[in-house]
Amino acid sequence: MLSSLGAMIGRARGEGWAVAAVNVYTIDGIVASIDAAEAVAAPLIVAVHPGALGEAGPPLLAAAVRAARSAAVPVGVHLDHASSRSTIEAAVAEGVTSVMADGSALDFDANVAFSAAVVANLGPTIAVEAELGRISGIEDGEVVRPDDARLTEPAGAARFVAATGVAALAVCVGNVHGPTPTPPALDFDRLAALARAVEVPLVLHGASGLPDATVRRAIAAGVAKFNVNTEVRAAGLQAWREVLADPAADLVDALRAARIAQRAVVRAKLALFGAAGRA
Ligand code: G3H
Ligand code: ZN
Repeated sequence: MLSSLGAMIGRARGEGWAVAAVNVYTIDGIVASIDAAEAVAAPLIVAVHPGALGEAGPPLLAAAVRAARSAAVPVGVHLDHASSRSTIEAAVAEGVTSVMADGSALDFDANVAFSAAVVANLGPTIAVEAELGRISGIEDGEVVRPDDARLTEPAGAARFVAATGVAALAVCVGNVHGPTPTPPALDFDRLAALARAVEVPLVLHGASGLPDATVRRAIAAGVAKFNVNTEVRAAGLQAWREVLADPAADLVDALRAARIAQRAVVRAKLALFGAAGRA
């Protein structure tokens, strides 16, 4: 059934597990993710980055909302990393149930103003996640150089959450978007201090490639949502490559193989995050 980040993340934080937000680009990605969640009875967030929206257009969101409504488990539809009010308003009009107001490229005061305005504009029914600090890496064409990464400061995080009213806070504790040569070392002392400093659940972006032990330690420290993209896309692309090695293969064969491969990755992440059985 259609649900929302707001209905899941507080429970996850209280019960010691984490919600999986999986980025999708096509209907196949939506179907693969929801199939995985239904297979393990897990709540799920289907996330769409503005970059993906630019490729597929608003029908991608409408398809996600439609699929969420008929899902056998709670599924939220989330606009990821949105830095413009118009993108957010258009996504809300398509039926998303939560948004990430991403003001991380702004200075502190401007990020507060942007995030608070989105919270005020959307009201209590649509959960708003924001980002304080700046996560480096690559995602959907957006590149943040390592030198431009900013670790999230606990004192600033407390002021930020109090001033904005966001429902969840994406933090930078060494996590990185996209592929990394080796898994990033997370600053767990900082993560624990952030969890003590703010009242809302923490979100960790860049979950692809993190070792299982790191994920479990992050959940214990207060992370209640992980964003996962690269690993899921890589599995789908590899499946395409393998199918396309057969000259007789059809497009449908590649789509099916990619769906199966992506579903397997999402299912494993749901189990790792402790979301399995929580629907
Ligand atoms: O917003 C999406 C995630 O942060 C994706 O991160 O590609 O490293 O899994 P990832
Ligand atoms: Zn992200």
